[in-house]
Amino acid sequence: MAYSDKVVDHYENPRNVGTLDKASTEVGTGLVGAPECGDVMRLQIKVNPTTQIIEDAKFKTFGCGSAIASSSLATEWVKGKTVAEALAISNTDIVKELALPPVKIHCSVLAEDAIRAAIGDWKKKNGQPESEPALVGAAVN
Ligand code: FES
Repeated sequence: MAYSDKVVDHYENPRNVGTLDKASTEVGTGLVGAPECGDVMRLQIKVNPTTQIIEDAKFKTFGCGSAIASSSLATEWVKGKTVAEALAISNTDIVKELALPPVKIHCSVLAEDAIRAAIGDWKKKNGQPESEPALVGAAVN
C-alpha cells in the first residue's frame, strides 16, 4: 500500500515533535493507544489561560507512518485555535487531508482521541468539567 504524498511529507518532516512540561497547569497531555495495532500517541497542548488559545502543541508517536502523519497534522491544526475549536477537529478531517485508505482510518482516530485526551487533561487541571465545552454559551451534549 502506498502512502499519499502528504503522509510521506509529514512522516519525513514531522512538525512539532517533542515534549512540553507536563507539570505546568497550562499544559494538557493526552496519551492514547490503538488496540488494533498497539501503536501509541502522545499529544500535548499549551493553552493561554486568558484567551484559551492553544499556543503550542507537541507530539511523540510510536506507530505507523499514518499515525505519525496524523499526529503531526493534528499539532499543526490545533495551534492557534481555541480549546473549543480544537475539539471540533474530527478524524474524518484528517482522513480527508491525508487521503488515508480505510485500513488506516484508526490511525486518524488515534489523533482525534489524543487531541481530546490532551484537552480533557488540561480541563481537569483547570477545574473545568472534562466532558463539557470549555467556553460558556456552547451547547452541552
Ligand atoms: Fe495502527 Fe497506524 S497502523 S496507528
